[in-house]
Amino acid sequence: MLDLRDITRSFAVGPSQMQILKGISLRIGEGELVSVMGGSGSGKTTLMNIIGLLDRPSTGTYTIRGEDVLKAKPDALSGLRNRLIGFVFQSFFLLPRMNAWRNVALPLLYRGVAEGEAKRRALAMLERVGLKERTEHMPAQLSGGQRQRVAIARALVGEPAVVLADEPTGALDPKVSQEIMDLFLTMNRELGVLILIITHDPKVAAQCPRRIMLDAGRIATDSAIPAPRPLVAV
Ligand SMILES: Nc1ncnc2c1ncn2[C@@H]1O[C@H](COP(=O)(O)OP(=O)(O)O)[C@@H](O)[C@H]1O
Ligand SMILES: [Mg+2]
Repeated sequence: MLDLRDITRSFAVGPSQMQILKGISLRIGEGELVSVMGGSGSGKTTLMNIIGLLDRPSTGTYTIRGEDVLKAKPDALSGLRNRLIGFVFQSFFLLPRMNAWRNVALPLLYRGVAEGEAKRRALAMLERVGLKERTEHMPAQLSGGQRQRVAIARALVGEPAVVLADEPTGALDPKVSQEIMDLFLTMNRELGVLILIITHDPKVAAQCPRRIMLDAGRIATDSAIPAPRPLVAV
């Protein structure tokens, strides 16, 4: 489903280039639930931005469902992103002047779905994430966990192929953090959507069937790829 090969990303810093991703190759199948851990600055967000079509690699290839997404023209890219990818962030990024259902309906309105239909689907998705009674609330009237539920509903409402979550529990206390993780587990199971969660929390990572560790721009370990067995003299 997602196929990244030999992805590098360098940034110009003053007169020099800093290579932040140093050759990432990664295949993730439909419906997988994957965590990405790694120290601060190891390149997690840079990688997520590339997977989410918010940024382009310096070199390498990237296909989604066989489609070479790096070949898309800039004006086609936002449509591709809107159709294929849902985002969840640590700080929620809800629009403060819009109530919950309007925030959730936004991705549908962007792609031209009529308002009535967008509202119907937004309300249904808010019910799924446990916010049936909060659909008219403004973000400021919701708790952190509830705001993240709205953001998750917004990420899922357009039936994306992939949900990318960058430290989605980073701003939440342990109890609420687990509730949000439970919601990801349920949505992954019920909707079959591929979810990739960047996290610092080992408890969150441990609940993902596949766990990837980044170190200084490289994949250090990937639980889907067993480490080579050391040669043992017998
Ligand atoms: N646009 C940019 N220009 C220059 N350096 C960047 C840019 N984006 C990220 N970096 C650098 O890349 C490194 C990795 O950043 P990031 O992917 O955000 O790490 P992580 O999410 O793992 O903490 C950091 O050292 C950061 O300063
Ligand atoms: Mg980051």
